Amino acid sequence: MKKLLIANWKMNPESIAEAKNLFMDVKKVASRLNGVETVIAPPYIFLAELRRLYTGKRVMFAGQDVFWEEKGAFTGEISPSMLKNIGVSYVIVGHSERRALGESDEIVNQKVLASARAGLRAVVCIGESTRDHTDGAHLIFLAGQVESALAGLGGKMLSRIAIAYEPIWAIGKSAEDAMRPFELHETVLLIRKTLARKYGKAHAMRVPVLYGGSVEKENTLSLLTDGAVNGFLVGHASLSGPKFNDILRVAHSA
Ligand code: 13P
Repeated sequence: MKKLLIANWKMNPESIAEAKNLFMDVKKVASRLNGVETVIAPPYIFLAELRRLYTGKRVMFAGQDVFWEEKGAFTGEISPSMLKNIGVSYVIVGHSERRALGESDEIVNQKVLASARAGLRAVVCIGESTRDHTDGAHLIFLAGQVESALAGLGGKMLSRIAIAYEPIWAIGKSAEDAMRPFELHETVLLIRKTLARKYGKAHAMRVPVLYGGSVEKENTLSLLTDGAVNGFLVGHASLSGPKFNDILRVAHSA
């Protein structure tokens, strides 16, 4: 499986000129690395224009969110087929920052199903807000998040899914505060087990499991190898071309 590196720009940068500069910086490096699939998730408003700047196959695009209906009277929303029709192949669903604004497990599930139906790959975000090391409650919570996000999704659609584990307590900090690789490994096993219970082991092993939360150049290698993830969802470090490119290079050579 190729490593999957997703740049979640969140609500940045402020102008299309800056967005283009950042994209061109990343494109230069990403388009040369055959061991990683690089995915850029800019704000909607920059998506189509950046998409037009690239004709190759190694850099893909993602929406940061999506609505679950195809079209109609839903002011302010963007549908999965709109994303698909401008050449977007991924969509982030259920990011903790959207859940904090009121997105429920049921809404996340509808968005996942609609995205998969439209032929997008949904990057389903899960993550606990705190972690008590003694009772393992976070593991039950995470398994529940996976199950509810994928409710009603048939095995044939599983290739349209990636799971991004983003512990909320580790987001927006630095490599020193990020999750430790051995703890990540435990969570990755839990996610795979949860998938295997529903879809069988062989299918479960093909779903990319990503980590997000203060990924920087310094912790890329250890999280990838000891954490046993297939890639990353990168926030703040993806807003600097040189910093994100360093992460791409480390992941490529891992
Ligand atoms: P940071 O890399 O800034 O911690 O953000 C992680 C994230 O939320 C990516 O979706």
